[in-house]
Amino acid sequence: TDEPLVLGIESSCDETGIALVRGNTLLADAVASSVDEHARFGGVVPEVASRAHLEAVVPMLTRACAEAGHALRDIDAVAVTSGPGLAGALMVGVSAAKALSWALDKPLYGVNHLAAHVCADVLDHGPLPEPTVALLVSGGHTNLLLVRDIAVEVHELGGTVDDAAGEAFDKVARVLNLPYPGGPHIDRVAAEGDPRAIRFPRGLTAGKDMERHRFDFSFSGLKTSVVRWVEACERDGRPVPVADVAASFREAVVDVLTRKAIDACKVHGINDLQIGGGVTANTRLRALAEERCAQAGISLRVPQIRLCTDNGAMVAALGSQMVQRGVSPSSLDLPADSSM
Ligand code: KG4
Ligand code: ZN
Repeated sequence: TDEPLVLGIESSCDETGIALVRGNTLLADAVASSVDEHARFGGVVPEVASRAHLEAVVPMLTRACAEAGHALRDIDAVAVTSGPGLAGALMVGVSAAKALSWALDKPLYGVNHLAAHVCADVLDHGPLPEPTVALLVSGGHTNLLLVRDIAVEVHELGGTVDDAAGEAFDKVARVLNLPYPGGPHIDRVAAEGDPRAIRFPRGLTAGKDMERHRFDFSFSGLKTSVVRWVEACERDGRPVPVADVAASFREAVVDVLTRKAIDACKVHGINDLQIGGGVTANTRLRALAEERCAQAGISLRVPQIRLCTDNGAMVAALGSQMVQRGVSPSSLDLPADSSM
């Protein structure tokens, strides 16, 4: 085909992702993760992540090209996550992208990591409906976005005022003595528990909070509430009902996420919701989103889990959209913008 071949590079957190996309078709997706190196710290250590990116970036590039059966000279454009993310980690991907763009004499596109998460879905389900509301839930982000044009116009409706949803899962997992990253373990254990056993707080959903924080999220109060609950069990010498705590906690998070996402659709008169980010792997989030969207007449798009976590595919997908829509490329002094 004559659609351009776009290389995507992602290095904003702990995954080094390099992928090749043509149009909306994913040709290769190589991902290396340093998650195991962070496990004993209970969270991502920026310096460790940066070093891991340095080691992985060339091998992932080689792997992606081999998987797609392409040589570097076949690449028509280079897209890279330029923010937000960890500064040192971003810098590795941005530097690699600039080097490739310069050496191959092909345009460079700096992309926003959040918009890229949303764009991953085109690889699974084709062109995004626009406008669409997008809920992005990962270890680093929890945002509601209003996407008018994925390549140039994405508005942030709200975000977390403290912990990201995935971060809350990881912190609560730690309290329950489950391994890091804790989200999948809570999800697994919760399946055996009663989500109505404990009524944990739903952050920023009370009337007075909704006035200022309608589309914002807060999970630190919920986390503290779980900690208090577990401490009370220990103090009284009662065994902690881990499955019930996990199920009740998961229900509180997922209830707020889906409620606010659907509210955002209603307020903006949009009948399309897209969900992305690593927490999308949560089985209860998927089920409740489906149920509530069906009730509200909203069509829901959720990409396969592999595309929800950090990867180069989503970056290449967004780069491809930028090329297709004639967006001006970035210059070679593109900065890594950690707070983009
Ligand atoms: O998108 P992602 O792979 O990395 C970034 O944070 O950017 O998301 C990882 C997060 C972790 O916090 C992890 O615990 C959470 O997603 N997660 C889950 C599940 N699977 C992964 N949280 C809840 N339920 C899950 N099944
Ligand atoms: Zn991410």
